[in-house]
Amino acid sequence: MKTWKNWISGLCLCAGLGVGVATLESCTAQGQQAGGQTADSTTVENKNVVVETIMARRSIRKYKDQPVEREKLEALLECGINAPSGMNQQPWEVRVVDDASYINGVTEIFKKVNPKAAEEEGFKNMFRNAPVVIFIGSPKDGSGQFDCGLLGENIVLAAQSMGLGTCFLGGPVRFMLDNEEAKPYVDRLQFSADYGLLYAIAVGYPDESPEAKPRDASKAKFVE
Ligand SMILES: Cc1cc2nc3c(=O)[nH]c(=O)nc-3n(C[C@H](O)[C@H](O)[C@H](O)COP(=O)(O)O)c2cc1C
Repeated sequence: MKTWKNWISGLCLCAGLGVGVATLESCTAQGQQAGGQTADSTTVENKNVVVETIMARRSIRKYKDQPVEREKLEALLECGINAPSGMNQQPWEVRVVDDASYINGVTEIFKKVNPKAAEEEGFKNMFRNAPVVIFIGSPKDGSGQFDCGLLGENIVLAAQSMGLGTCFLGGPVRFMLDNEEAKPYVDRLQFSADYGLLYAIAVGYPDESPEAKPRDASKAKFVE
């Protein structure tokens, strides 16, 4: 059985190979340019496994009834905590829940307040139907939220590279924080006294392949 260390080294190898491919492709492209042919930089970029992973990731809201291996979840955590953080303060706490009784228990409370949501086709639970939820906590003083976002992006991209689907979850966390009856479920996450639940990430084997939602390229510009 693969351990998370195998997974990480596999990922590093893949990334390394990907960079190698991109570098070789770049060299080839330059060579072609020197030979009078046009180099297609977009094609070169898209052969980079990291770029491909970023571009292929979509929020998944429909999951297979297939448990996620603990080894893979451990690898996701390792990737998450290797995100950069200001002054390496690592201002995050992460809790993984793959216990169906937790997920279904808090969903029952959610259903009482949101009966219509539970009637949606394919509804399994309030965490966009995922079998695993990763909860992220940040310092209660409001610091660390930027760093926690970076941790989350590392997790979702690593998950994508392992064939797992993910969805960032703000809404369900708001519900858990605002609903008195759901409070024991927040408490069970056992964040340190000075940490609070910030957001969550749904994880599981995807059972859908949604199209990319449009992006507004005009929001990112060069300053001339
Ligand atoms: C901070 C944050 C909170 C989000 N909260 C939810 C949520 O509560 N429920 C949900 O279905 N999607 C949620 N999403 C997913 C976004 O809807 C999704 O990323 C966006 O529509 C772009 O689609 P894509 O991820 O497929 O590219 C959230 C995303 C972020 C970054």
